Amino acid sequence: MRQVTLKSGDKVPVLGVGTWRMGERKGERAAEVAAIRLALDLGIRLVDTAEMYGEGGAEEMLAEALAGRRDEIFLVSKVYPHNAARKNVLAACERSLKRLKTDRLDLYLLHWPGSVPIEETIGAFETLRGEGKIRNWGVSNFDAGQMTGVARAPKGSNCASNQVLYHLGSRGIEWQLLEACRKANVMVMAYSPLGQGPLLRKPALKAIADKHGVEPAAIALAWVLRLPGMVTIPKAVKPDHVRANMKALDVKLDADDLKALDAAFPAPKRAEPLDMT
Ligand SMILES: NC(=O)c1ccc[n+]([C@@H]2O[C@H](COP(=O)([O-])OP(=O)(O)OC[C@H]3O[C@@H](n4cnc5c(N)ncnc54)[C@H](OP(=O)(O)O)[C@@H]3O)[C@@H](O)[C@H]2O)c1
Repeated sequence: MRQVTLKSGDKVPVLGVGTWRMGERKGERAAEVAAIRLALDLGIRLVDTAEMYGEGGAEEMLAEALAGRRDEIFLVSKVYPHNAARKNVLAACERSLKRLKTDRLDLYLLHWPGSVPIEETIGAFETLRGEGKIRNWGVSNFDAGQMTGVARAPKGSNCASNQVLYHLGSRGIEWQLLEACRKANVMVMAYSPLGQGPLLRKPALKAIADKHGVEPAAIALAWVLRLPGMVTIPKAVKPDHVRANMKALDVKLDADDLKALDAAFPAPKRAEPLDMT
């Protein structure tokens, strides 16, 4: 699979899996563990989670799903903004490591901007990096102005990634943020790349999917991954969904496809606030 190289030299596969809304209900655990294991069996090596997901439940579920295979995986987790003060970041990271049954995270993100000065959170991230508990750090849901704040903070230039919402139905980051991240060598990781589902029923997407002999989800993901340096993390529990999403790696969208998708899902005509929904 194609990979993106971070500032640290670490490599991230372009297609991974997400875990939001997993780890919330005991009765769904077996299906969730099976979905993650199926994704790994099909070649996925990037897994995204957060202390927020199932209030630790997603991380616990992942410990089971990744057992014996942790070293193959690029593992991402996130700290709540209300835990972004120095001692709270250090403690939250310890809790995540314990739940995940691992000794390190490959990437640790501030989940969204909060009231703690970013300099303080970055200082804590750098401490964790020095201790080997995280290999890289970054942010999530930061707009272009907030990324400038990160860059200006001490050690802020070590920010490896900004995880933001991006899909055919929400293209606001194409205005400023993508370019700002590219210039700062900050890897953009697209979340909700399937628009959480409803996007996939749009006729324009179906037509291109039929042409390529894949599901609409594969087209939606291939479109996100058309951009160099872009990484994405769709979430799927149903086995058919896991399999359909992998097909994105085989799809080559041609100029006609891209034109049709642009017409059906136009980028906004002016800059707009960062979408987080
Ligand atoms: N940083 C942040 O603030 C933030 C916010 C949101 C999400 N995220 C991360 O990004 C990940 C992905 O985003 P998301 O979960 O919001 O939404 P998403 O990946 O766009 O969509 C997930 C939904 O699409 C369905 N689906 C998956 N594959 C499909 C397919 N091939 N055909 C039809 N439906 C399909 C899933 O159903 P099933 O599960 O039933 O298969 C689920 O209902 C999250 O899990 C999380 O890790 C981060």
